[in-house]
Amino acid sequence: MKNSRKNLIDNIKQIQQRKNVVILAHFYQVSEIQDIADFVGDSLALAQHAYETNAEIILFAGVHFMAETAKILNPGKKVILPDLEAGCSLADSCPPAEFKKFKKEHPDHIVISYINCSAQIKALSDIICTSSNAVNVVNSYPEDQKLIFAPDKNLGNYINNITGRKMVLWNGTCEVHDIINTEAIIDLKKAHPDAKLLAHPECKAVVLELADFVGSTTSLLNFSKQDPSEKFIVATETGILHAMRKASPEKEFFIVPTDETCSCNDCPYMKKNTLEKILAALENEKPEIILEKRLLEKAKKPVLKMLQLS
Ligand code: 13P
Ligand code: SF4
Repeated sequence: MKNSRKNLIDNIKQIQQRKNVVILAHFYQVSEIQDIADFVGDSLALAQHAYETNAEIILFAGVHFMAETAKILNPGKKVILPDLEAGCSLADSCPPAEFKKFKKEHPDHIVISYINCSAQIKALSDIICTSSNAVNVVNSYPEDQKLIFAPDKNLGNYINNITGRKMVLWNGTCEVHDIINTEAIIDLKKAHPDAKLLAHPECKAVVLELADFVGSTTSLLNFSKQDPSEKFIVATETGILHAMRKASPEKEFFIVPTDETCSCNDCPYMKKNTLEKILAALENEKPEIILEKRLLEKAKKPVLKMLQLS
């Protein structure tokens, strides 16, 4: 490691200890952020860690809705996000005013929202879910209960297929997963016929139908560790490859290109965070996530409901 990188990391560690900060990172962060984090996980595990931490400050190396969830669970703690521009196309695809209207058009429906949404959408929801507990959350309601699922239509459609439900779906997508295409998968399968296809449920149905295993980032990682296969084709964001290769250095992993002009599935929002921005955020204790008290209280109920079920 170059001296300047080492100095940067030493400075981060020093301030982190002095200020009692926990660094939580998602699997889609760049490798060097995953390597310095106190915990790296999927959305559910990150929310659980944020809820249980004793640290005074939470630094979220992820995107805005994740840091917001940490704040919702810890209204009394300072939650900082290294770059406030680290948003999410899926969360942005569900504007609160339009969603309120949609809810009105579907009376008697319970609202289940994927955690990839704003605090305002959480406040309009009955329960939150992530890709690792969505089936359990949906199945916690009687079969004849009418349900709305927002904002990811691909995940909603996948859960409908698994559970046999007919949830009404909000028409939102993740700009990274929705463009993963089957042609590239078929080419990779031809080149590596013994490889298993792992896919995140934010991908389109045609991709999920081809997959050997579908799950959250943590589930995909665990599958790649436990399965005897030596090769895996991975249909999700590139960041997960770091954890997969670290856990199974003897195995081979191939990311599915999104189209022929691009061989990477980098989430532009996740990749906004850098070690330099983390150091600046620790020094200045900002950018900070600030939410109005009433919104915090309203959004907390459905998040806690999910944690109690998980
Ligand atoms: P999980 O890590 O919960 O599978 O979520 C993936 C994702 O898109 C986060 O933005
Ligand atoms: Fe949002 Fe997709 Fe990026 Fe996840 S990968 S943060 S869902 S845009």
